[in-house]
Amino acid sequence: MNCDPASKILPPHDAALQRAADALRAGRLVGMPTETVYGLAADALNPVAVAHVFEVKARPRFDPLIVHCPDTGSAQECVADWPEQAQILAQALWPGPLTLVLPRREHIADIVTAGLPSVGVRVPSHPVTHQLLRLVDRPLAAPSANRFGGVSPTRPDHVITELGDAEMLDCVLDGGDCRTGVESTVLSLPHGRGGPESPIVLRLGGVSVEAIEALIGPVDLAQHRYAANLREAEQQGLCSPGTLSRHYAPCTPLTLWTEESPPPMVEGECCGLLSFTRLPAWADEACFADIEVLSERGDPAVAAARLFAAMREMDHLNLDRIIALPAPDEGLGRAINDRLSRAATA
Ligand code: TXA
Ligand code: MG
Repeated sequence: MNCDPASKILPPHDAALQRAADALRAGRLVGMPTETVYGLAADALNPVAVAHVFEVKARPRFDPLIVHCPDTGSAQECVADWPEQAQILAQALWPGPLTLVLPRREHIADIVTAGLPSVGVRVPSHPVTHQLLRLVDRPLAAPSANRFGGVSPTRPDHVITELGDAEMLDCVLDGGDCRTGVESTVLSLPHGRGGPESPIVLRLGGVSVEAIEALIGPVDLAQHRYAANLREAEQQGLCSPGTLSRHYAPCTPLTLWTEESPPPMVEGECCGLLSFTRLPAWADEACFADIEVLSERGDPAVAAARLFAAMREMDHLNLDRIIALPAPDEGLGRAINDRLSRAATA
């Protein structure tokens, strides 16, 4: 038997897809590409399989998982109410990086939703995921395939680095580099059985707030609405447990630098610079051990797709600190800045 964890990466041929589907049906876990990040998938209708996801990721049980479906009809089967806003958003933005939080149906196990009365559902757009969902013929619960709190994987080898040793991980389907590169936007909608008073973005992500507002009107951001008492709001289930302030973090300390002037650097400190776009003039003078420019042309889509891989690479360089220069705070840039500022929260 080949014990090299890298041998779990399989090109997504028919035989590999069938093996992955069989493994999922048998209660095992599969590394699954999506357009946002790689997920660690389990049969959402099998609570024991879902428990393994929490174990393998060392994820606290209070943090609910997103349920992935092949189409809107299957997503509707997971929820107990389907408001008009859900229909408008699904029609325009699915398949795609948007998760809708709605009241759950009973057959979605407590362990998936961390006991919450709601469930997050999404229809991913990656063709491999799509084929897999069709073959398995049941919804898949999948968090990002990294250890809890770490940087999400955007390539199959990242999944192996993070979780390759886990016996329960049957295989990782190779879907190439993730196109979007940041996780889905999580949106909680008002509905007939309660929910928030108006739509609220629990996590910024691959679909911009502007795109959502163009379809359903103004939405609030959870971190604004509950700014004063985020912990309390989390405890009451008002906002997503995954909005814990430190998240998506590399091991190397990261400073988010928004000033026009150069950041103060300690003599002898070995720093890397992670920049959204072309460097400011001061960067020439300062001495950085490594410089990563996410998009020379300042394209947020290009930068988002590169962000997590760049964080990982810099994390391997034994730097004392990463200094990060953010994107303009609009569109997908907001999701990039959200991940950077979480990584910067010590
Ligand atoms: O793009 C993505 O969303 C990726 C891919 C694999 O689909 N998945 C992902 O899952 O990022 P995860 O588990 O790393 O993050 C899911 C987020 C967490 O912040 C969680 O708290 C929130 O979604 N969430 C899930 N269900 C929820 C619910 N019922 N109510 C509130 N927040 C929920
Ligand atoms: Mg995650």
